[in-house]
Amino acid sequence: MNAIQDGILRLKDEKNAVILGHNYQRKEVQEISDILGDSYGLSVQATKVEAETIVFCGVDFMAESAKILNPGRTVLLPNLKSICPMAAMADAEPLRTLKAKNPGVPVVSYVNTSAMVKAESDICCTSANAVRVVQSLSEDKVIFVPDTNLGLYVMRYVKDKEIILWPGYCPTHVNIKVEDLRELKKKHPDAEVLVHPECTPDVIDFADFAYSTEGIIRHTVSSPKSEFIIGTETNMIHRLRKEAPGKEFYGVDAATCPNMREISLEDVRDSLLRTQHRVELSAELIAKARIPLERMIEAGRQD
Ligand code: 13P
Ligand code: SF4
Repeated sequence: MNAIQDGILRLKDEKNAVILGHNYQRKEVQEISDILGDSYGLSVQATKVEAETIVFCGVDFMAESAKILNPGRTVLLPNLKSICPMAAMADAEPLRTLKAKNPGVPVVSYVNTSAMVKAESDICCTSANAVRVVQSLSEDKVIFVPDTNLGLYVMRYVKDKEIILWPGYCPTHVNIKVEDLRELKKKHPDAEVLVHPECTPDVIDFADFAYSTEGIIRHTVSSPKSEFIIGTETNMIHRLRKEAPGKEFYGVDAATCPNMREISLEDVRDSLLRTQHRVELSAELIAKARIPLERMIEAGRQD
């Protein structure tokens, strides 16, 4: 721990705060996080926080979800530039128009959406349970917002429903190309290839497995293999090295999410010192967005 990290840990106790960190955070931010995880795991953890304040080291929709699920806490996003561009690809108004054209068709929204979009949704999902959530619905048609690639991934497993896709995508995961994986595989022929379901279908076809970020971690920890090619944000490799010491991980250089990297240690320190930047949502919005998020948690995870 360096001096600024020590200072953050002191401040955190003084202010009765808990730091939740996503698996894509910078190494030094991961090191001061009380709990690391994926979107599903951090949502569950957010419901359990009893401390006064949650400092959310992740992107905007994750901090919003924490506020929606535990509205009595002060939730802080240390850097306002930490936004998810895919979540910004879906707005409530065009979703309302799509719903009006498809009466009675339920909306499954990926957790990577704004609170306003969640408020228009029947159930949320994460990459850890998207297939299970869509399968859980009785209707034979669903609207899936906003990640086309995750929707296509769900369609591999759910054959008895029509899925209306939204034209959203993750700029980081579409940067991962089959050629990148093939090159890495040539250099490391024994390595297993693990990718995130936000990758394009050809990349998922090439991979051995597609999982949420926490699913990737669980797989590498329990696998008898000792080498892995990782097709997701490269900061994940810090967490993987910690959880599976002695194993080798090879990342795809192009897979960086600049937004996830916005939060620095200085931002976390200032966030605690100045109680900034508070997630503020109206009680009405929280009440509406909470229903699909709680359904998502109830569905459980599949990986
Ligand atoms: P996970 O929920 O799998 O951690 O993914 C979140 C995310 O933003 C992926 O790009
Ligand atoms: Fe959003 Fe993609 Fe970054 Fe995840 S990796 S936060 S989906 S832009």
